[in-house]
Amino acid sequence: MTATTTVEMPVNLMEWVRENRDQLKPPVGNKYLYDGNDFFVMVIGGPNARNDFHKTNSEEYFYQVKGDIVVRIQEDGVIKDVPVREGETFFIPGNVPHAPTRPPGTIGVVVERRRPPGETEHQQFYCDNCGRLVYDKEFDCKDIVEHFAQSMEEFWADPELSTCKNCGERVPKPTPVKRIIFEPEVVIERE
Ligand SMILES: [Fe+2]
Repeated sequence: MTATTTVEMPVNLMEWVRENRDQLKPPVGNKYLYDGNDFFVMVIGGPNARNDFHKTNSEEYFYQVKGDIVVRIQEDGVIKDVPVREGETFFIPGNVPHAPTRPPGTIGVVVERRRPPGETEHQQFYCDNCGRLVYDKEFDCKDIVEHFAQSMEEFWADPELSTCKNCGERVPKPTPVKRIIFEPEVVIERE
């Protein structure tokens, strides 16, 4: 993708989604809308199929255009499920591990800062059973596009890496999100 450095005409977002829908596919379902020097804007369509958490010094902004999602965040040693409903806006400060779960048919916009040189990002996995950190891999930000997906696959495939040292539960390779039940508590159902 070439950087967005000249003025482009405004785009109707839902028309853009219709035209690019087939490219918003699991595991992540994202496509760049703008790729600037200071920040980039992605459109992300559900379902996604990931259970990794992402931690970076940079902030992230979410606007949920269509359908309801859950962003799992890790705060004070506990994983919290934060529903982000259609029409809602959400801000993730730096250094908060987060893992969006997106049901089919949902559309969201995410804005992220272009990482400064030397900044690193973490890919983490937490135990669903006891909440402990199971795996933490640090990347240089310039390598992340290439190596992030590959690293997830290596983690899921390796019983040693993906088994919780605390309770022995394994972090499985996730299938796509089928639906999310929001009330009375969040339940994420997968295919
Ligand atoms: Fe565990």
